Amino acid sequence: MPASAVIGLQWGDEGKGKVIDCLAADADLVVRYAGGNNAGHTVYVDDQKFVLHLIPGGILHHGKKNLIGRGVVLNLEALLEEIDGLVARGVPVEERLLLDGRAHLIFPYHTKMDGLTEKWRGDGRIGTTGRGIGPAYADKVSRTGIRLSDVLDADLFRERLSAAMAEKTAVMEKVYGEKLADDADLFERTRAQVARLQDLIVDGGAYVRAAADEGQTILFEGAQGVMLDLDAGTYPYVTSSWTGIAGISGGTGFPPNRLDRALAVTKAYCTRVGEGPFPTELHCDTGQRLRDQGNEYGATTGRPRRCGWFDAVQARYSCASNGLDGIFLTNLDVLSGFESVGVGVGYRLPCGTEVTDYPGELSTLEGIEPLVKEMPGWQEDITAANSIEDLPQSCRDYVAFLEEQMGVPVISISVGPGREQMFHCPQGAEV
Ligand code: GDP
Ligand code: IMO
Ligand code: MG
Repeated sequence: MPASAVIGLQWGDEGKGKVIDCLAADADLVVRYAGGNNAGHTVYVDDQKFVLHLIPGGILHHGKKNLIGRGVVLNLEALLEEIDGLVARGVPVEERLLLDGRAHLIFPYHTKMDGLTEKWRGDGRIGTTGRGIGPAYADKVSRTGIRLSDVLDADLFRERLSAAMAEKTAVMEKVYGEKLADDADLFERTRAQVARLQDLIVDGGAYVRAAADEGQTILFEGAQGVMLDLDAGTYPYVTSSWTGIAGISGGTGFPPNRLDRALAVTKAYCTRVGEGPFPTELHCDTGQRLRDQGNEYGATTGRPRRCGWFDAVQARYSCASNGLDGIFLTNLDVLSGFESVGVGVGYRLPCGTEVTDYPGELSTLEGIEPLVKEMPGWQEDITAANSIEDLPQSCRDYVAFLEEQMGVPVISISVGPGREQMFHCPQGAEV
């Protein structure tokens, strides 16, 4: 398919990095469209581990282009560090990477503001990654943001930066009683960073449309997950961008009607990092066991991930609201060894009513009790499975049940972090 998208179906960390890296082998162009260095996408090439934060997941493939689209918020220091790290490991990043000049920049004052607002929220904190994502998007929306290409024009950049700094200094002092650290060389430093990247800057929308016109295979790489989407997610416990399929057009300039295939990645259970509702979360030993078996610690911040059973109510909602054509099911191997595995199939609301649709209101979500269907587990190690037929029957039944609940075919199953540990399911998971 010429233009496909792969998004996260849950609260992020579903294994998008691995899936994108695998699909990139058959793509010409991989495009990130949202988020920033809050993302952490893990890719294993043989025994080598790569964690990509800003750079799209086609970067490890020879001859592929990787575009950071205009919907991404760019921390230049983090980007250069990531580039240098990959170059040091032999990846010719600058041959493969392109940046949309319309992407907004994250400055140190955004990162500082992220910390201050979290502190200000107290018990109501979101548990952000502390990377300045929310404040940078807030500036974009309030039209005080600075875009990558603005930096190329010294006068324009000086004017916009000093206006932004004056505003941040006033807000920090008056609202938070904090001083914005003196950063006299921010202007020169940023100019030097952009000078290094100058040859990679393109009009991303024009580039991606031309690639499609030429018949190139394009892969849009989601960051975060549907439940962290600014509008579709568990607001306010969300990130500040549009993480789903709807974010692609705004975040790249690629027209929505030119997307051929909408795909998503979901773990065979659920995880979440940070605060906010998580209906099927397991606070008991089983949750800790999932964390241990799945090595569930954040790829960006190292925080332990909250763990729980697969939530079919949430998954169905995410599938329906993104018009999905297929699902990559990851981390199925992590469930080996459990006597039984649970699936959230409904919620009991505080008033006692049982529902099977995802409630939009935070107050409802906070008081619900999940209705969990227990299914027989399996003991076998499945990390070497090559096809659905290699899976134990109870495991196949579990996958088929998830597929039925989501109403979208499971087109691929991942049974370990390695590139080779993923197989296609030509008929879906139907048994
Ligand atoms: P992303 O943000 O969606 O790219 O996911 P992360 O990289 O943050 O987290 C996914 C974690 O699961 C990484 O450590 C991956 O190496 C790992 N992973 C991916 N697929 C599988 C799988 O099928 N089984 C196991 N056990 N680990 C996996
Ligand atoms: P990938 O792409 C998991 C979470 C944070 C926090 C909330 C808001 O690796 O799946 P932010 O810093 O964006 O303002 O934080 O969103 N979050 C993620 N959780 N995976 C991610 O990205 C995330 N990016 C942000 O933990 O709860
Ligand atoms: Mg991640």
